[in-house]
Amino acid sequence: MIAPKRDVHIIGVGSCTPGRVLTNRDLEKIVDTSDEWITTRTGIKERRISDPGTPSSALATEAALRALQDAGVKGSELDQIIVATVTGDRPFPSTACLVQDRVGASSAHAFDISAACAGFVYALSLARTQVAAGAVDTVLVIGVESLSKITDWTDRNTCVLFGDAAGAAVLRSTGRPGGILSTRLHSDGSLTNLLEMPGGGSLNPASHETVDRRLHYIRMSGNDVFKHAVRAMESVACEALEAAGHKPEELDLLVPHQANYRIIDATARRLGLPMERVFVNLDRYGNTSSASIPLALDEAKRQGRIKSGDLIEMVTFGGGFTWAASVVRW
Ligand code: UT7
Repeated sequence: MIAPKRDVHIIGVGSCTPGRVLTNRDLEKIVDTSDEWITTRTGIKERRISDPGTPSSALATEAALRALQDAGVKGSELDQIIVATVTGDRPFPSTACLVQDRVGASSAHAFDISAACAGFVYALSLARTQVAAGAVDTVLVIGVESLSKITDWTDRNTCVLFGDAAGAAVLRSTGRPGGILSTRLHSDGSLTNLLEMPGGGSLNPASHETVDRRLHYIRMSGNDVFKHAVRAMESVACEALEAAGHKPEELDLLVPHQANYRIIDATARRLGLPMERVFVNLDRYGNTSSASIPLALDEAKRQGRIKSGDLIEMVTFGGGFTWAASVVRW
């Protein structure tokens, strides 16, 4: 682990969600499910779905502009843009390059990373080390997903879970104490098939056959993922806290990946945290993968649940498997 040389603060956050709301009642008309099942098994009541003509870059750009405004930073001041996504506009070029153009960040280099639901914290960690080392000064980190575009709307096991959103954060060294105190990242590539989109890459290039076999949709072995998620999120949350020199009871707010209320509840219990100190908004957005944590950060800040000086922890788990946590003195 590289020891940070400069403090790295999150100086602005922003988010964007599509206007169209899809409720559990709407889903009852599409697949064999019920509001009662979805609510009790996941905690989700509704999710946002983008229009067919709205790609991830549109959501990402809007979230980015809001984060820049919150930070009081111009696009032209950015040195680096990292977009975490598994649903970029195209396999290449990167969605980050599209955002770079649209926010006027002509001095920034831009690239995407793929770490599924852990993508935002992975990107945050990368940006932190870059700023801390003095390689760059100002970074825009975005998590964006258009999961509705890779959702199999005939599969009740998955289609009730996901939504579309983008969240963004601006990072910079401020000379103040605090900021991002620790990040811890993990992967386990032996379990890739438990959560995947099998088609469209070099393994199963897009063809009539891959479309007929519905390979271009998310497939998940939900119950297996659930068990791994609970264990991994507790363990990495403790690890990041220890690295930051803090204990769970010192946290003002835990901002977990919003996949399932039962996973969030189990993680909070294992950390000994009351739910009043845990941020939850998955009832309104569902699982938005890499967008879920920055979307939650932005909402929590706007609701006054994150204030300057607060101790915050983000923790997440997703496909790969990948899991990660970060502790921040805001
Ligand atoms: O973001 C990345 C990480 N992702 C996650 O963390 C997601 C982790 N997994 C989960 O959140 C949960 O496993 C699910 C919500 C996906 C599923 O909950 P579960 O308690 O693990 O249920 P299950 O998969 O064991 O399924 C229980 C039953 C099955 O019926 P049988 O076989 O018992 O008759 C399913 O067919 O529930 C059935 N089922 C449904 N019923 C009504 C599955 N989906 C639905 C549905 N509506 N939408």
